[in-house]
Order: sequence, then C-alpha cells, then structure tokens
Amino acid sequence: MATPADPTPTPAAEDPIRQAARLRSDPHSLARPEQVRVEHMGLALRVDFANSMLRGDAVLAIDRSGSDPLAPLRLDTAGLTIQAVAAAKLEVAVGDQGVVELAPLSTHPAFIDVEFRFEPAAGQPELGTALVIEVPEGMDLVRVSYSTLPSASGLQWLTPEQTAGKALPFLYSQSQAIHARSWIPCQDSPGVRTTWDAAITVEDRFTPVMAAAFSEPLAILPEEVGSHAVRFVMPKPVPAYLIALAVGQLERRELGSRTAVWADPSVVEAAAREFVDMESMLASAEQLYGPYAWGRYDVLVLPPAFPFGGMENPCMTFATPTILAGDRSLVSLIAHELAHSWSGNLVTNRTWGDLWLNEGFTVYFERRIVEAIYGRERAEIEAGIGKRELLAELGDPEILANTPELQHLRTDLAGLDADANFSTVPYEKGALLLRTLEETYGRERFDAVLREWFESHAFGSVSTDDFINFIGLELIGVSEPLAGKQAPNLAEWIDGAGLPASAPEPSSAPLEAVGQAATQWIAGSLALADLSTKDWSAWHWLHFLRSLPPELGSERMAELDQAFHLTESGNSEILGQWLVLVARQRYEPAFARLEQFLIEVGRRKYLTPIYRALLTSDAGKVQAKAIYAKARPGYHSISRGSIDEMVGTPPAGDP
Ligand code: BES
Ligand code: ZN
Repeated sequence: MATPADPTPTPAAEDPIRQAARLRSDPHSLARPEQVRVEHMGLALRVDFANSMLRGDAVLAIDRSGSDPLAPLRLDTAGLTIQAVAAAKLEVAVGDQGVVELAPLSTHPAFIDVEFRFEPAAGQPELGTALVIEVPEGMDLVRVSYSTLPSASGLQWLTPEQTAGKALPFLYSQSQAIHARSWIPCQDSPGVRTTWDAAITVEDRFTPVMAAAFSEPLAILPEEVGSHAVRFVMPKPVPAYLIALAVGQLERRELGSRTAVWADPSVVEAAAREFVDMESMLASAEQLYGPYAWGRYDVLVLPPAFPFGGMENPCMTFATPTILAGDRSLVSLIAHELAHSWSGNLVTNRTWGDLWLNEGFTVYFERRIVEAIYGRERAEIEAGIGKRELLAELGDPEILANTPELQHLRTDLAGLDADANFSTVPYEKGALLLRTLEETYGRERFDAVLREWFESHAFGSVSTDDFINFIGLELIGVSEPLAGKQAPNLAEWIDGAGLPASAPEPSSAPLEAVGQAATQWIAGSLALADLSTKDWSAWHWLHFLRSLPPELGSERMAELDQAFHLTESGNSEILGQWLVLVARQRYEPAFARLEQFLIEVGRRKYLTPIYRALLTSDAGKVQAKAIYAKARPGYHSISRGSIDEMVGTPPAGDP
C-alpha cells in the first residue's frame, strides 16, 4: 500500500496501445518510411458503380536506401482486398512532366509475384492493417492489385437522388485525416510525400476528376468499349491525405486564367457566379505569401452529403454546395481552402497532433485574403465570430471544458483517434496565436517571417517544435516587440489549456450592436419592425440568433419567422443556426424544413448542433431518432460516426 504522504507517486504504467503508438514516428501510420519509403505511386483504377468498388493496381516506386537493405515495405491499408503483390526493377521512363509515370506500367511483364502478409494495429482498429511486403533484392517497383470495399471510409458512393441533377450516381473521396488507406495502399502519414499519376477508367457517361496538376484522355483498351480513361499527373510530392478523386456528371466553367469551377450541370452557373472573386483571391494570396506552387486552382462543388465545408485537395478544392448562398456571403471558405495551398499543402503538419500548423495558419491567412478582397470590417466580423465560437467550445462541458489536453494547440494523440483534436482550437486558437505575433511585431515584419516560413519549408512537413525554433530564430530572438507590447509566451499558447488572457480581441462593434439589438428586443424595448437588418450579412444574422436567450419560446420564434422568413432562408449559415433554435424551442412550423435539411445536408458542422439541440427534450429525442433513421443511409461515414455517438445507431437493417 502506498503511503498517503508520499509526494512522488510512481507514474501509472502507460497503456500498451498508447505506448505502441508513441513508438511510431507518426502514431496514426503503420508504415516505416525510415526503412523503405514510397516515392511515387502509379494508380490504374476502374470505377465500378454497380458494385461500389474501385478495382485495379497501385504501382509504387520505392527508396530502399534505409539502414537495412532487406527491410520489407510496409503500407497502410484499411479494408482493401488484395489480389496479388508483385515486384520488378524500375526501368526508367520519365514522362513529359518530369515524373516517372507508373500507371501505364501496371501491366508490365517484368513483375514477379512476391510474398506479403497483414499486421493489424493492436487495439486500434481505425488504423487498419499494415500490408507488409518482402521485396526481392535489387527491385524497387511494387505492384499491389486490389479492390476497395463499398464501405471504404474514404469514399462515398451516392445515388442519383443524392445529386443535384438526379441523373447519375456520384463518387468522391475524402482522405484527410487517415482515410486514403481505405482506397489506396500507401504510406498514409502527413510526413510522407509522394508524386503520383493515375489512369482512371469510367463508363462513358461519367467525368472523372482528380486533385492533379494535369489531365488528358487516354487511349482506350479494346476490351473496354463503352468506357473511357483519363490520365492524371501530380508532379509535386504530396502526402496521401491530399490525393482525391471524384466521378459523376460534371461540367466546368472557367473563372480566370488559372481558376475554374466544376459542378453538376444544374449547379455550375450558380457556382460560377458565387465564386467570381476566385482569381483575385489567388492573386491576393500570392501577394501576401509568395508564388502559388500548384499551377491551376479549381473548385469542385460536391453534392450536399459532403461532410465538410471544404477540403483543400491540391489544384482542386472540394466544397459543399451549402456555400452557394447567392450573395457571395460564405466565400471565405474558398479563401480558406485556397490558403491551404501554402499552409497545409506546401508546408504540411508532420502528424495530426500538429493540426494547428495546417488549420491555424490557414484561418489567419484566410482572414488576410478576406481583408484584402472585402475589407477589414468583414474580416474582423468573421474573426469575432470565430473567437466567440472558440470561447463557447472551451466553456462547454459537452465539447471541450472537460478535456484540457484537447485545448492545447499541440496535442498528444498517441493511442487516440486521428481526429480527436478536431475542434475550433487548432483553427481559432491557432489563428489567434499568429495574430498575437502580428500585433506584437507589426504586420510587415510578421508577413516577412511567414513568407520565409513557407519558402524554407516548401514541400516539407513540420512539427510544432520546428515552429517554435523558427519563430525563436527569425522573430522573437531577433526583433523587439512594438512599443507597449511583450513577446508572447509560446509555451502557454502551445501547451497550455484555455486561451491566454492577452489573446487579441477582434474589433467587432457591428457584432456587439447586433447582440444589443437582440437583448433589447427580448427586453421589449425594441420592435422587430424597427430593427434595421438590410445591411446584415449572414454573420450578423448568425450572431443575432446566437445572442437570443435559451428560453425563447415558440411565440417569439413565430414573431421572428414572420418578420424575417428564417425558415425559408437560402443561406445555410442562417438556416443552420435557425434550425438549432427550432429544435431547442420545439417550434413546430419549421419541423418539416428541419427534417428536409437533416436528410439532404450531410455537413457535420450543421448536423451536430441541430441533433444536440433536439436531444435536449424528450419529444426532441424521439424526433431525432426518427429523422436519423431516414437520414443516416445518406450520410458520409464521418458524419455517421459523430451522430451515432449522439443519437445512437438506428435498429439493424440500415447499412
Ligand atoms: N482540411 C479541413 C477539413 C478537415 C480537417 C478534414 C480535419 C478532415 C480532418 C478544411 O480545410 C477545413 O478546415 N474545412 C472547414 C471550413 C473552413 C472554412 C473552416 C470545414 O469543412 O468546415
Ligand atoms: Zn482548413
């Protein structure tokens, strides 16, 4: 028995799962890139909608110059069906983009079958299974012949009814954080970059697109009449989470010399109107932090089931159609995904515990682009909304209040889910740290440091320690703070819980005015008819709705709805927040709209608060379960995962 007075209790032995995860250079990858590293991947895949399956080969060029020349190649896989593994010696065939293209080599006769085995991750099934391949001496090409499962977590197969045109089914991938392994055998760590090329075969009525720098039609093989193949090339090294594919009925509209939008034919015009500023956003971004490294910047508008707002796939951001508000009010999301072309895609977080290096930098950069294009006031309003969301999450016992470790910018995710730190912390706290540096040393100085950060780490992966060292050497150690300012305490920001008291305060007088109006209306000192809302943006509305008291009641809801037609709002931010109130206040006239929204839209950021609000009452719980039973089959597995945890899985019978 331990003596109660003992001041140094022996530390509890570490959980073996956590310990094993900590021994890997990236706790979320089973690969061993320090032994054998994949340098280029050539994918030759056929898209089979009838069986919801990708089928074909991944040919990998490997670097075996690690300390053990006979070490096996270890790849991440999750639910892949492996038909065969073969190896060959690479006879160089450099393509016109200066990369060795492997997809066309997939049927090369020189391959010989080799042995392989599977090693599951003990205790962490979400990491999948290591595919361990013994590669004969002297060989540096490995071909994995495989197919995916219909349930592959990185793919969503949609029915025609789930698309805008309702004509054809649709497929898209979402690989961040660790879902690339469910559709490509790869070294699925943000610390491993490869160039890649692909030959994608689809039936003639479909258009495939990928997050690639180049594409062109391929000559079709005679046995594939009725299909066509497209070749894609990514000549810049990227981590696996940035490889992306979508297939459906797609049309393209050019926006500028380097920008275009892709969408369902019935959506593409609206999308082109919404995104008119894309080309100038790109120019502004380059002016801030240096040349754009990826050639083209296109946006693909996905069907509404997409679980995120946007995903920064290089050369082609994937985006939710819920940002098509008609008034360009939600396009800061495009600025965000574009900014990732520097923070994230050019300079990548080394592990998912360093996510703030991707997202915090990007939110800071996004607001600088918004400021350049739409002015300081709009950028400050968005920053003000962001900071309020952060403070609300930090204080909410259902979100972050009880997990101080997840309030740190640098998180220790060993043994945890790769997305365990997904919250406003890496985004908004990260952006506030960069803003602190800007305010302490001046914008001009800080911009120069950021430009240097991107330039000196281009096409590399970075850790939080790299950031601390860099900022120490390039800024804090060599510059004086502006008059009246103090160097920030980086350790408190990075490894501390909560938000430092000195955190910047965005100037959001317009938000405060809106908040006051809400208070006055509630107090009876202001009539809705006297409220001047004509200049309100979606963010003003969002803040107004968030400023209302929790015990509003259905009558006041009806008053608001009659005055402002919120149930009919075509702006997803306003509607999403309104539906949270509808759910919480049990405002029946909007129940049909609520159900329709939850069935059609799969964007997790909207779903979780609405379901959470429903679950606060007994009647709402019944309603949540009934709606979820209908909606769940159409949700992406990422959204399902989150809502299952809240609502529970509907009774068997659902996929
Ligand atoms: N890269 C993220 C999406 C992501 C993060 C996917 C972590 C998987 C794991 C993307 O850039 C993003 O942040 N999207 C936001 C929009 C943005 C404006 C804050 C989203 O989807 O809501
Ligand atoms: Zn992001």
